[in-house]
Amino acid sequence: MTDLRDGVRPAPEVLAAFEAATGFMPADEGLALYAAAVEAAGRTGLPVLEIGTYCGRSAILLADAARATGTVALTVDHHRGSEEQQPGWEYHDTTLVDPEVGLMDTLPRFRRTLHSAGLEDHVIALVGRSPQVAAVWGGRLALVFIDGGHTDEHATGDYEGWVPHLDADGLLVIHDVFPDPADGGQAPYRVYLRALAEGFEEVSVTGSLRVLRRVAG
Ligand SMILES: C[S@@+](CC[C@H](N)C(=O)[O-])C[C@H]1O[C@@H](n2cnc3c(N)ncnc32)[C@H](O)[C@@H]1O
Repeated sequence: MTDLRDGVRPAPEVLAAFEAATGFMPADEGLALYAAAVEAAGRTGLPVLEIGTYCGRSAILLADAARATGTVALTVDHHRGSEEQQPGWEYHDTTLVDPEVGLMDTLPRFRRTLHSAGLEDHVIALVGRSPQVAAVWGGRLALVFIDGGHTDEHATGDYEGWVPHLDADGLLVIHDVFPDPADGGQAPYRVYLRALAEGFEEVSVTGSLRVLRRVAG
């Protein structure tokens, strides 16, 4: 396998669209995600999947990686926001509330973002709760990117729901992995430790983004 951080980068206009999009992922982590998606999709010919669309920031990179490798990016979200994005919490954005229903709705911003980036044709939005979508999903995946709810319930549900769909040669990517509790919540870190205990090994570390692959056996 090639070094996932060498070489492949999105075109400057794609990177600019990523950096302009609403969201939380820094550029170095985005580039590591992009390289992993190109590598895994290019090698397996299978789609890549993200849990946690939000407004489409990381989905831009997955969609461009899918375009570059002739596959498609799937992105799952109920679009009602995670716990920390609700009113009164640290990451709440009042511009993302649907005034008619009074709830978060990130789907319109996501659609505008992917349209502006010219990448709509390379992404399929799955609007629903991750475990429900995973339970009815039937295909193999080149890459699973876990960036959904950051509670133990949700992060564990994402891992248990989607890893069974990951191709034997696929990559598992986990965001917001913080070994030190002072840096952030521990649920993604616990999922990361579980993956290592259940047959994955680390391929790369970029900020809080971990790329893992199954150990051959
Ligand atoms: C941290 S944000 C994702 C950020 C995004 N990947 C980016 O790059 O900007 C987490 C998202 O996960 C979604 N989410 C949380 N729990 C979920 C669940 N059980 N099923 C589907 N989506 C969920 C939230 O609605 C929220 O949009």
